Parts: sequence; structure tokens; C-alpha cells
Amino acid sequence: MSKADLIVGIQWGDEGKGKIVDMLAQKYDMVCRSQGGHNAGHTIWVDGVRYALHLIPSGVLNKDAINIVGNGVVLSPSSIIEEMEQFDNLEGRLFISDKAHLNLPYHAQIDIAREKLKGDKAIGTTGKGIGPAYADKINRTGHRVGELLDTKKLCDSILESFEINRPIYEALKIKTPKKEELLRELEGYKEKLEPFIANTTNLVWKAIDEDKKILLEGAQGTLLDIDHGTYPYVTSSSTVSAGACTGLGINPKDIGKVIGIVKAYTTRVGHGPFPTEDFGEDGKRMADVGREVGTTTGRRRRCGWFDAVSVKYSSRLNGCDEFALMKLDVLDGFEKIKICVAYEIDGKQIDYMPSNLDRVKPIYEEIEGWDKVEGISDFDKLPEGAKRYIRRIEELTQTKVGIISTSPDRNDTIVL
Ligand code: GDP
Ligand code: IMO
Ligand code: MG
Repeated sequence: MSKADLIVGIQWGDEGKGKIVDMLAQKYDMVCRSQGGHNAGHTIWVDGVRYALHLIPSGVLNKDAINIVGNGVVLSPSSIIEEMEQFDNLEGRLFISDKAHLNLPYHAQIDIAREKLKGDKAIGTTGKGIGPAYADKINRTGHRVGELLDTKKLCDSILESFEINRPIYEALKIKTPKKEELLRELEGYKEKLEPFIANTTNLVWKAIDEDKKILLEGAQGTLLDIDHGTYPYVTSSSTVSAGACTGLGINPKDIGKVIGIVKAYTTRVGHGPFPTEDFGEDGKRMADVGREVGTTTGRRRRCGWFDAVSVKYSSRLNGCDEFALMKLDVLDGFEKIKICVAYEIDGKQIDYMPSNLDRVKPIYEEIEGWDKVEGISDFDKLPEGAKRYIRRIEELTQTKVGIISTSPDRNDTIVL
């Protein structure tokens, strides 16, 4: 029996999970997504070619790996069909849980309409219908991927829920499709997706029993977790390592090594508190050098310094064995680098993460920068300043750094 290793985002997403999953996937037999939906955007560069993945696990670039979209995911059929077109011969190496919930076009319409109504209280969602699709699931009014196999019945059931929700749709000015249109849409999805729909719980259990190497790919990040993140400015799924169990149907004892993916600085897309955000030249430089533009929505990411308080919190929540420290090259050439070592709240200094970050101010420590780490793939060749930064992060977060990434390319990675 094998144990599944897990990759989890430590900050507000976009830490570089895709690069590490792709790199590690070369050695794994199965790669699984357990939560989130096409709000995720994982960019991978291989030999100068860019791949953008949203729902398909980043293991797809390893032709020998089986890819699982687990029951905890909310699946947009149109989005995954479009994504599947980038690859040949996915049959037999991509499986979608029949228990995953459908994220249909009306979910995105509700998402966008609600955000508009909220005005300056908007969350800044990706507008992909994630919240409404998970709300339907928890409300027990959702529809599951397995229901696509009987499109007529599914169509009637969706039409029934339209009627129940009619006052809401009218208030939000949402036009729901007519029966023929909806049926045609669902039949199109069925035609493309039927060969991939499976009981993925059994597939993962079988892989565990057969001692296969399994990698679990987290989407989003710990600070966007529905319970432990910066609520309400979060996503609607359990992004922490524990979420992988419910999202795939495995038990906590099935989890092996946990690798936290952490950026050498911090970014956030959408609204919500961000204590170390830098509104000046430094933040702008991080955004420019790090090309901090969202893969899913094209929005510019907010940037700031490394926050050791929240990263330590995330490490504990996930049970991280080690970190992969990403995008260290983006800090190349900074004369001084700041690290947030504690927070100040109402005049008091704290070293833990409070449940509300609204009034928190960062307390910084400054260290000397370095010249260049870009493209370095040997730890001994890193400049002293960069080594010092890594050691300080390890001390403050009580987590060792096991992987260091110095460019988007698969090869520019140091494994310690
Ligand atoms: P994910 O959502 O966590 O998979 O991350 P994204 O793919 O949304 O964002 C990370 C971005 O950083 C992508 O464009 C990657 O190609 C890029 N990237 C990953 N690692 C590095 C690195 O070490 N250095 C630089 N400069 N870019 C990186
Ligand atoms: P990956 O997997 C960064 C953010 C949105 C918004 C909040 C809620 O690429 O790291 P949602 O559409 O999920 O209801 O939006 O969550 N968000 C992400 N930010 N990376 C992501 O995924 C994200 N997925 C959602 O910007 O603030
Ligand atoms: Mg991303």
C-alpha cells in the first residue's frame, strides 16, 4: 500500500504549484485534483511552450500518468472540454468523478451578478461560478457529473430547480435557458465527457493498494480556505491538506509527504486584507519582474513582502514536511529585502495569525539582498544573501525548505 504525497498552496494562490506538480509528476503514476474548479490557473513552461491548466491536473504533461478530477471539484463541462483540446489521447489517462458537482453557465451568471450588487464589498471572485456551484452542493440542490449520463432526466431536474429559484433569477436579471437549448447543451457535454466519467474513489483506492505513486495537487492557497482563510475574502472550498481527503475519498492515513508551495514574496488577486502589500516601487517591481498577471482572469496581482506569520500558520494547518520556495529570482537585485516577522494589532505585538486581519500592521525585519539567482540549479552556487534569506524563512516558519525555484522552467529548480 502506498501513501499519497500532497502539494498545497501556502499563501493566496498562484505560488507556482503547477510548476512543481509538473516537475514531480514525472515520477508519479497518478495525479489528482480534489477541490476548486476552473478558478484555478496553473501555468507550466516546458521547453519554451506555455501550458495553462484550470481543471485538468498538471500531471497531464507526463504521458504515463493517470489524472483524476476528484469528487470535491466543481466541474465546468465547457471549460474542461476546451482544456482537453490541448492534448491528444486523454482516454484512459483522465478520469472525472461521477460525484463531482456540475458548475453550469448559470452559476457564473449568479456569481457575476452578486459581485456587481455587492459594489465595494465585492470579493473579487474569478466570476467562474465557484461560490454558487458549491452553495448548490451544500444546499443539496446541486447536480453531479454522473447525472450527465441520463441527460433527459438531468435536464428536467435542472429545469425544476430553475423554477424553485425563479424569484432569485428574476431579481438578479438572469435568463435561464429553455428546455431544448439546455438539453442540447447537456447532450454536447455528455458526448465529449462520457468516456472519462468514473468512480474515481475506487480508482484511487486501487492505485493505493497496488503501491502506485500518487500525487495530490492542491488548487488555490491556504489563506483562501473557506474555514481558515481571510473570510469572507476566500474561495468556497477546503484548500488545506485535510480537504484532499474528503475531495477524493481517501482517509488521513493515506496521506504521505506534504509539500507547501510558497512564493519568496506574497501576492493576492481579488479583494481582502493583505498586511504586507507594498503599494510603492518595490511592489510594482515584484509584479513586473514576476509577471504577476492572473492565468484565469488576466487581472494584475497585488504584491508585497514575505509574511512569515501567515506562512507559519499555513505550515501548521497543512502539516507541511517541507516547502518549495518559488520565484526567488524575482527578488534578484533588491538592495534590501523585508520579511514580516510579527503583527501589531491595537498597539500590541503578536506572532500568531488572528481570525481577522483588518487592523493588523506588519512588523518587518530587513536583510541584505543579493545579485542574481535566476537560472541557478545548484544550491552551492546561490549567493550568500539568498542562502541567508532561505535560512531565515526556515527559522521563522519552523519549516525546512526542500525545493528552490529560480525560473519558470522545469530545469531551473534546486532539490535539496
Ligand atoms: P499556481 O496557480 O500556483 O500553479 O501558479 P500560477 O501558474 O498561477 O503562477 C505562477 C507563475 O509563476 C507562473 O506563470 C509560472 O510560470 C511562474 N513561475 C513558477 N516558478 C517560477 C520561478 O521560480 N521564477 C519565476 N520567475 N517564475 C516562476
Ligand atoms: P490557483 O489554483 C489566486 C481568489 C479570487 C478571489 C477569491 C474567490 O491558480 O492558485 P472564487 O472565484 O474562487 O470564488 O474567488 O479567490 N482565487 C484565486 N486566487 N489563485 C487561485 O487559484 C484562485 N482561485 C480563486 O481571486 O479573490
Ligand atoms: Mg494560479
